[in-house]
Amino acid sequence: MFETLHPSKPDQIMALNAAFRADPREAKLDLGVGVYKDEAGRTPILRAVKAAERRLVETQATKAYLSPAGDPAFCAAMVALAFGADAPNDRIAAVQTVGGTGAVRILCDLVARAERGATVWLPDPTWPNHPAIAKQAGLGFRTYTYFDPATVGVAWEAMRAALSEAGPGDVVLLHGCCHNPTGADLTPEQWREIAALAVDRGFTPFLDLAYQGFGDGLEPDATGLRILAAAVPEMLVALSCSKNFALYRDRVGCAAVLAAAPAAADLAGDNLRALARVTYSMPADHGAAVVSTILGDAALREDWTAELDAMRARILTLRTDLAAALRERLNDDGFDFISRHRGMFSLTGLSAEIVERMRAEHGVYLVGDGRMNVAGLNAAGVRRFADALAAVRG
Ligand code: LMR
Repeated sequence: MFETLHPSKPDQIMALNAAFRADPREAKLDLGVGVYKDEAGRTPILRAVKAAERRLVETQATKAYLSPAGDPAFCAAMVALAFGADAPNDRIAAVQTVGGTGAVRILCDLVARAERGATVWLPDPTWPNHPAIAKQAGLGFRTYTYFDPATVGVAWEAMRAALSEAGPGDVVLLHGCCHNPTGADLTPEQWREIAALAVDRGFTPFLDLAYQGFGDGLEPDATGLRILAAAVPEMLVALSCSKNFALYRDRVGCAAVLAAAPAAADLAGDNLRALARVTYSMPADHGAAVVSTILGDAALREDWTAELDAMRARILTLRTDLAAALRERLNDDGFDFISRHRGMFSLTGLSAEIVERMRAEHGVYLVGDGRMNVAGLNAAGVRRFADALAAVRG
């Protein structure tokens, strides 16, 4: 039967990651997949994570099943982290998921169950897995202009005009902070306008908040989510612990639904649990137990927040250092926007040809659309990138 299969379209980020690993050159620089690296080029296990893991090993008394919803303490802690102290908990249903990607997928499945033929509006550009997941879940999708290459910022007028066409039954996916791939984020005022548009037009916002704590801080990065949650009757939220807890491979995420009324939230929760059951039965416990241990313990939480703050501060320093190095090396202030962007990524505007030459001639890996993972740099990497770009630009 398998000979009838067609080759699948490669995911550009995963394909680049494989190419980087296969590259035998010693001096190579991975600015592709979104993983934070420290000055020594390592992706550290956070101190609080190690401490929570030790505690779990010592105290965990059973590995018996939990449930399709995962760990309720984890879900409650994640909802509080994202929605804040004023979370309308009686209108929220949440389940633990297999990473933020699992949350996006199960929420798309939920939309497909609730509204056959629903259209998901995706930002252009967006994380390449978004359209692939929407398609796999049987949803149609449209795009709205998000980025203006001329200003290297949000194309606000075009975005607002496009979203004015969305209506009831439509779902509008928004990156909660640290937009992937551009690095350009919405202002609080723009979030308020989107909230007003959602109420006026009747569409359902779908927030993908995969980088909370990597932009301006845990609280500021939830501004958009909280503005929307206070205004709209319904919304979908995908949360990830991959970056802010550095639990990448442990696959920890949470899918939350804000419903118009408590009974609808119960129904959404019931359907999320049913979808989890038919997909993987139950999410893996370990990473979520680590997160829930950290968030439930004042000392561990403080240490986690301090380490997260340090990662964020370091990314911001790398951004200013890179902009300065490019200004000096290329005699060009055209990359100053890098220091204005937030999160791991910046869409550099480099052409596919330059990106390919950076890879082939200098072992510097960027995603083909010009996305750079700034969090993959260190001081030597900044110099290397600037030198490589100067060389290929001639
Ligand atoms: C990325 O965009 O590089 C990350 O979100 C990792 C991934 O799964 O693609």
